[in-house]
Amino acid sequence: MKILTLGGGGREHAIVWALSKSHMVDEIHCMPGNGGIQDLAILHEGDHTNPDEVLSLSKRINPDLVVIGPEAPLVNGVADVLRQEGYSVFGPNKAGARLEGSKAFAKTFMKRNNIPTASFDVCTQLPEAMEALKKRTAPYVVKADGLAAGKGAFVLQDLKEAQEICEALLNKNYLKEAGKTIVVEDFLPGRELTVLVITDGSDYIMLPPSQDHKRAWDNDKGPNTGGMGAYAPVPWVDKKMTSQIEKTIVKPTIDGLKKENIPFKGVLYCGLMIDEKQECRVLEYNVRMGDPETQVVLPIFEGDLAETMLACSKGSLKDIKVPLVQKAAVGVVIASGGYPSAYKTGFEIHGIERLSNVDDIIIFHAGTKKVSNKYYTTGGRVLTVVGIGGNIEEARKKVYKNIEVISFEGHFYRKDIAARLEGPNNA
Ligand code: AMP
Ligand code: GLY
Repeated sequence: MKILTLGGGGREHAIVWALSKSHMVDEIHCMPGNGGIQDLAILHEGDHTNPDEVLSLSKRINPDLVVIGPEAPLVNGVADVLRQEGYSVFGPNKAGARLEGSKAFAKTFMKRNNIPTASFDVCTQLPEAMEALKKRTAPYVVKADGLAAGKGAFVLQDLKEAQEICEALLNKNYLKEAGKTIVVEDFLPGRELTVLVITDGSDYIMLPPSQDHKRAWDNDKGPNTGGMGAYAPVPWVDKKMTSQIEKTIVKPTIDGLKKENIPFKGVLYCGLMIDEKQECRVLEYNVRMGDPETQVVLPIFEGDLAETMLACSKGSLKDIKVPLVQKAAVGVVIASGGYPSAYKTGFEIHGIERLSNVDDIIIFHAGTKKVSNKYYTTGGRVLTVVGIGGNIEEARKKVYKNIEVISFEGHFYRKDIAARLEGPNNA
């Protein structure tokens, strides 16, 4: 099989790495890729979010499967254009991608399909937004409808600040088109959880639950980031909770898509909040794998990812059986000094080769490039170092024992990934 993968982050390196382990795969291409993916795939320059550019590359290399990593190409309709031309694609069409591309669509979809989520109001005018805030108490939650690179959700203690955000979004062009419609919703307390589901629109495979760490610094301090580390599986999610999530969220979502005639072949990312009564509600959907969740979920995935994704793209996921997870993984992101605010790039990364042959350690690249056999930083999140073990504690020890070998100017990482493993009862 020849596979084309789109994207160039840690998630895509983990996807390419897992695909490269399959006996079915002969050749992997990636647009645009990064310094680590370059060691496993043939890289192609270009705009992977542009349907025309991706189609013309596909015509040149003729892949048996195209795997779309990030949300932007999905929301732009890259999958639609490729499917029209007869390619097998892993990733939903534009209509399905609205579950991530429009918060208002996602919330009204959940309401129509009785899927538990925070109660909400969709607003396009400032007076409506003021009413929606007045109905609620602090903390206030305001979200821009459209894609905003992780910067579109606001959780605010102060009513005045919440009113100002609504005004900035609706009337002052803050976040541009993405903020012309907003969602104001109830605050949900509890613990967050990610559940990734591979689905062909009828059948589905739930991957082991994982947990992201969104704040930049230890003890969940500092600004929000794309994610500074993750672990999987999550020990407090037992069989009962898994089946509750399946029954009240996963199945109704997939059935709802079907009922609304929205074909969906790819990953449904359920971002959940679990409260102290063990109630599970959807905070957000995404339509692709999580980053850095993928970097911990795929190394413990016991199936053949290429076979699974191909079957998904062809609508025959029911034929795939994936063995149960046996191991645990903890992934720690190494970031550029200053991230998520301004940071410098172009620094040489030291130590990668010293970990390349260490058992149960995997390094996934994000913002890197390779020049004459050396790796240099090109982004905010640079690497995810993943430790594997029989349980989270072992995996955590493994990663922190080895990560200090890696360095570049200004680098930093959180020291407390997977340090708090208690469930929502203690949230
Ligand atoms: P979203 O982009 O919708 O996932 O929101 C980003 C982050 O804001 C989430 O990961 C949560 O930490 C927080 N958040 C969003 N919505 C809520 C809510 N209704 N209640 C509490 N926290 C929320
Ligand atoms: N880790 C959060 C996300 O991928 O959206």
